[in-house]
Amino acid sequence: MEQETHWSRFATDFEKRNHYVAGKRNINAIKDELFQLKLTGKVLELGCGNGTYSQILADSADELFATDYSKEMVSFSAQRLNERKNVHVEQQDCFSLSYPDASFDAVVMVNLLHIIANPEKALQESSRVLKVSGTVVVVSFTIEGMNLFQKLGMGYRYLRTYGKPPAGAQTLTVEHTCDMLINCGFVITESKLIGHNSKAVFVRAKLV
Ligand SMILES: C[S@@+](CC[C@H](N)C(=O)[O-])C[C@H]1O[C@@H](n2cnc3c(N)ncnc32)[C@H](O)[C@@H]1O
Repeated sequence: MEQETHWSRFATDFEKRNHYVAGKRNINAIKDELFQLKLTGKVLELGCGNGTYSQILADSADELFATDYSKEMVSFSAQRLNERKNVHVEQQDCFSLSYPDASFDAVVMVNLLHIIANPEKALQESSRVLKVSGTVVVVSFTIEGMNLFQKLGMGYRYLRTYGKPPAGAQTLTVEHTCDMLINCGFVITESKLIGHNSKAVFVRAKLV
């Protein structure tokens, strides 16, 4: 597997950086939504980063596969989730997963789809590894629903913290995210904007 070079640089203090960029209250809003889902069975998290949301998913999942393309993020998350006996932390590319067809009950992607060049390809690969009726959950920071002042503030904090976004990164809207999921064979079960002064797209869908 090739090396991930953009996000790997931030593995050790990623959560602290995100608190500054997006605000702790907004990150907690994402945590609350994931907590309420109480996803059970075999759950796959793609682009887990340094495990910020893996902890919550692990509370309800029978088995959680927390995965990321970055070796450094995987290594950090593996240490952080070490005590959790139902968690496997693995290096995986969301475009080409090593898991068999129909092997998961749920796939979760938090802040992954808006930073990759081909989000539909990741959704297609997710549908391959999901069981029929399985759930996919997409959460991604967005500028949708933010006023000009909030957008400028977020843009400034992002550039100061992470520099130029990776090639292919884009801001998603709820509508665009739903359209991509529908194109990939999913039926939308819930879609909304969440957060406060920073926003995130939140979409839940089922594979039919
Ligand atoms: C913006 S971070 C989000 C991390 C975490 N989900 C969070 O919200 O705190 C995006 C993550 O996706 C990972 N990533 C990038 N390309 C990927 C790919 N092709 N497959 C899997 N993960 C990828 C990066 O290494 C990074 O950890």
